[in-house]
Amino acid sequence: MTFVVTENCIKCKFTDCVDVCPVDCFHEGPNFLVIDPDECIDCTLCEPECPAEAIFAEDELPEGQEQFIEINAELAQSWPIITDVKDGLADADEWNGKTGKTELLER
Ligand code: SF4
Ligand code: F3S
Repeated sequence: MTFVVTENCIKCKFTDCVDVCPVDCFHEGPNFLVIDPDECIDCTLCEPECPAEAIFAEDELPEGQEQFIEINAELAQSWPIITDVKDGLADADEWNGKTGKTELLER
């Protein structure tokens, strides 16, 4: 099992999640974070930390978010590890909760 970052992280990237991960499995892209499924130990700590409620257990993904299992696994291979919290993206609060953000994911 692994935890998965889903669509609502896109264009928010609050990064609170990276502060609690004991095994440094978050990887950072331009406007999204992903979890490396090979490193995640299912500790559950990150899930309640995300202000955008974008993190879910793999087997509890909301309907329509299933593609993010593959997206996390793929992008974790090429994006660098992030371990320090930083400011969310500009306008993160405005983008929080918007739907249809998947096409705005920058790779
Ligand atoms: Fe890291 Fe735990 Fe979240 Fe997995 S569930 S990404 S190990 S904090
Ligand atoms: Fe994204 Fe939430 Fe982390 S918005 S960067 S998954 S705290």
